[in-house]
Amino acid sequence: MELIEKLNWRFATKAMNGQKVPQEKVDKILEAARLAPTSSGLQPFEIIVVTNQEIKEQIKPNAWNQPQVTDCSHLLVFAAWDNYTEERINNMFDLTNDIRGFKNEGWENYRQMLLGTYPQRSAEENFTHAAKQAYISFGAAIIAAAFEEVDSTPMEGFSPEAVDEILNLKEKGLKSVLLLPIGYRDSSNDWLVNLTKVRKSKEDFITEVN
Ligand SMILES: Cc1cc2nc3c(=O)[nH]c(=O)nc-3n(C[C@H](O)[C@H](O)[C@H](O)COP(=O)(O)O)c2cc1C
Repeated sequence: MELIEKLNWRFATKAMNGQKVPQEKVDKILEAARLAPTSSGLQPFEIIVVTNQEIKEQIKPNAWNQPQVTDCSHLLVFAAWDNYTEERINNMFDLTNDIRGFKNEGWENYRQMLLGTYPQRSAEENFTHAAKQAYISFGAAIIAAAFEEVDSTPMEGFSPEAVDEILNLKEKGLKSVLLLPIGYRDSSNDWLVNLTKVRKSKEDFITEVN
């Protein structure tokens, strides 16, 4: 299948069959998420991979009782930084210098510009910005899962506070933003599997300015 065929094949799976996704495929999905671009390259979020069935059971009632939370193979929790601090910004700039093996004046000026802007803003504004970056990675993971012919369900339908509590995210300075159960569709119990995909027409979606 070509990528576009796979994107037509994928859907927000409503029922999963509990089958395990091979680790090699999970790794590729996570790698696509890690390689996603982010604003200033800060990657202000982490992914928690939950395979522990008891933890999944605890999360499910806090996620509208959606069965995919427990019937998936791996539950990916995208959790964003609760704030941008000087330390967090410096860590990413230092990492860039370490990996590239040199310091660049333009890059150092850019570091100072961010240090003079982000930490002064409210935690709420910074978390919102960080969460937006997590969505980009989330999209990459969804597409990578489809490419690997692994089903997934993008989920905002959960209580972030409850999930943060279950996974002890507060002490890591993280707040859950999105859930992505990955696994395999249970076609006989999934009401959505045979319904036609609905998208706006290209005409309503794309405006060409020539
Ligand atoms: C950010 C986001 C949050 C979503 N939250 C849920 C959810 O909690 N539960 C669910 O079953 N589907 C959820 N969906 C799935 C959407 O309803 C679905 O992607 C959309 O209707 C398009 O259908 P398709 O993905 O099957 O092509 C979510 C999708 C996105 C992108």
